[in-house]
Amino acid sequence: MIYMDNAATSWPKPQQVKETVTEALENAGNPGRGTHSYAVWSSVKLDDVRQKTAKLFGIQEPLQISFTLNATHALNIAVNLCYGQILTTAMEHNSVLRPVATRGCYNIVKAQSDGGIDLERIKNSITPLTGAVIMTHASNITGEVYDIAQIGEICRKKGVLFIVDCAQSAGIIPIDVNAMNIDVLCFTGHKGLFGLQGTGGIFVSPHIKLRPFMSGGTGSHTFVFKQPTEMPDCFEAGTMNTHGIAALGAGVDYVSNIGIEKMREIHTALWRYFSNEARKIDGITVYGPDAAKSSETKYNTGIVLLNVRGKESHEVSEELGKNGICTRAGYHCAPLAHITVGTDNAGGAVRFSMNHLNTKNEIDNILCKLREMIN
Ligand code: ALA
Repeated sequence: MIYMDNAATSWPKPQQVKETVTEALENAGNPGRGTHSYAVWSSVKLDDVRQKTAKLFGIQEPLQISFTLNATHALNIAVNLCYGQILTTAMEHNSVLRPVATRGCYNIVKAQSDGGIDLERIKNSITPLTGAVIMTHASNITGEVYDIAQIGEICRKKGVLFIVDCAQSAGIIPIDVNAMNIDVLCFTGHKGLFGLQGTGGIFVSPHIKLRPFMSGGTGSHTFVFKQPTEMPDCFEAGTMNTHGIAALGAGVDYVSNIGIEKMREIHTALWRYFSNEARKIDGITVYGPDAAKSSETKYNTGIVLLNVRGKESHEVSEELGKNGICTRAGYHCAPLAHITVGTDNAGGAVRFSMNHLNTKNEIDNILCKLREMIN
C-alpha cells in the first residue's frame, strides 16, 4: 500500500494519537461543566492542547484560539467577522470560495498558469473598499506555498484584515502569526497535524471585534441569553470534541518533535523528485510549479498533480487504487484553481499528496506503474 492522499486526510496516524484517543475515552467528562475528576480531566486537556497549538503557530494568547469542527467551520466564522469587500484568490478551496460568495461583495485575484500568485497583483487589488484578504497558505492541488509573510505585510500597511487558511500547511510549513501579520488563522486537525477528522480551530487576534457565529451553552455566563463575545467561548457553543482535541494535541506533539522545518524539507524534497521524474515521461502532463525551474528556497507541501495521456483522471486513480496506490482524482473542491492550471476541461487531474513517511522508492514504483499504463 502506498498512501498519497494526505492533502485529503493524513495516514497513518501516529501511535501516540491512537493511544491518546483511548486515554480520552477512558477519562473524559464534559469540559468546563463540572468539578469531578472526569470533567476536570477534559478542561485541563483542552487547556493543554490550546497551549501546544498556540506555541506551534507563535500565538502569544492561547485563549484566542477556539476549537472548531474543521477548517471550513473556522473559515465560515472568519468570513462572518469581515466588513467591506473581501479579496481572495483563484487558488482557494471551496471552503473559502463558498462562504465568501454566499456573503457577497468580493473580488478574486487571478493566479498564473502554474498556480503562482503575483504579490503585486494582490497589492494592486486592495482598494479603499477592501476590508479583508482571505487566502490559503498552500494550494491543495499544486502544493505551492505562498509568501504569506509578504502578503501579511501588505495587508498591515494597507490596514486590511488578513485571514489565512492553513488547512494544507499546518504541521508541514512553519507558521508564526506575529511574524506573518496574520489576524485570523483557520486550521484543521486531520491533515498535517495528524489528528482526527472533525477537529480544527480558529485563532482571532485580540484587536478584532468578535461576532458570534452560533449560539449555545458554553458553561459560562449562564443567565445571559446572548452568546459570550470573548474568546474562546464565543465560538465554542455546545460540548467540545474532547476526544478529538486530545488527539490533536498528540498530533501537534508528534510534528513538533520532528520539527516543522524538517517537515518542510522532507515534503519539498519528495515533491522535487516526483515532479522532476514524472515530467521526463512522455505521455504524462504535470501541472503546477516546475521544480527543475524553481529556486532552492521554493517550498512545496509535497503535491504532484498530473494526467496520463488518453485517460480520465478518475480512471487513472481507480487503476492505481487497485494496485494499492491511494490518490485523489477530479477537481479537489478547487474549481478556480483547476481552471487556472488548465485541467477544468480535462476532467480534473490525479493528485499525489505525500507526507514525510513516503519514500523515493515508493515514487519509483508509482512512476513504473504510470509508464505501464501509458504503454
Ligand atoms: N480539502 C481536501 C482535499 O483537498 C478534502 O482533498
